[in-house]
Amino acid sequence: MLNAKITGTGSYLPEKIVSNKDFESFLDTSDEWIFARTGIKQRHVIADNETSSSMAEIAATRAMQAAGVVANDIDLIIVATSSPDRVFPSTACLLQARLKINDCAAFDVQAACSGFIYALGIAHQFIKAGGAKKALVIGSEANSRILDYSDRSTCVIFGDGSGAVVLEASEEVGILSTHLHSDGEYQDLLYINNPIKDQKQHGEQAFMRMQGNDVYKVAVKTLGRIVDETLESNGLRKSDVDWLIPHQANIRIISSVAKRLEMPMSKVVVTIENQGNTSSASVPLALDLAVRDGRIKKGEIVLMEAFGGGFVWGSALVKM
Ligand code: UT7
Repeated sequence: MLNAKITGTGSYLPEKIVSNKDFESFLDTSDEWIFARTGIKQRHVIADNETSSSMAEIAATRAMQAAGVVANDIDLIIVATSSPDRVFPSTACLLQARLKINDCAAFDVQAACSGFIYALGIAHQFIKAGGAKKALVIGSEANSRILDYSDRSTCVIFGDGSGAVVLEASEEVGILSTHLHSDGEYQDLLYINNPIKDQKQHGEQAFMRMQGNDVYKVAVKTLGRIVDETLESNGLRKSDVDWLIPHQANIRIISSVAKRLEMPMSKVVVTIENQGNTSSASVPLALDLAVRDGRIKKGEIVLMEAFGGGFVWGSALVKM
């Protein structure tokens, strides 16, 4: 069996920043409420000419540069997104064209906010089985395109951005394990309807809808369980984990997972204050930040986890 190692990371955030204060002019909300309940101060929002695939192109190019590979070395592209450019072709295909890669497997994964963890798990299986040698694994979200800006319970929370890694077959151990779960019973707590069906039947645009408080309660319990599952399956103790890279949904959820790991917040990579919740992009965006600013070093053990609409949840334990 081959190992799979992350050899490069990259990310992209759109230039435009929307602060909490900016919402106060048109919504019954406040900077104080948003920050106290979520930990968010601002989020990035794409320009009219940007899309999930255009952001992914920049993040992927930066990851390939960091890994020292060129586009034509890539033999697998997996993009996690819930805000694709088109229903089909997949964002991965559009990215493949942007990168001018003539032939390789390319497809999207739809696992909401857990999409990057799912994509990493799938790429890991491909590499272990000998089906790919150099994969691009990306989370890219144009959330601002699927938000209802009159719904204060969702629009203040989400932001746009893209994060990427290059995952390569390796002699060295990299991905130690991935753990993927779902429970479709919770489908009505966090969803976006099919945009084509909604438009045709009701003349309405489909937007993201979330019963935030119900999602919160399940997320806290579930993420606590997946931390235990990940450590047990690797025979590791809490103290063996050097860094936690959580999905950035809510600072209170992040803190509760850190507490479960008995980990100080200084060992948790937190981006939510400046980026909001970027769904499937949040984990690779945080990973890239902490690799580039020198916090995460080669050989360290990183626990990534995410939870999202479905519900879907998962984790990845990675030796960098
Ligand atoms: O990333 C995918 C997974 N998603 C998550 O994990 C999200 C999990 N959920 C959360 O992070 C939190 O539930 C939220 C941040 C979304 C909401 O915080 P909360 O403390 O659970 O608030 P709530 O939904 O219980 O609402 C409390 C009050 C309500 O008013 P009433 O009914 O008490 O009068 C809401 O209408 O806060 C109100 N509210 C707001 N007030 C000001 C909701 N949104 C806002 C807002 N500004 N933006």
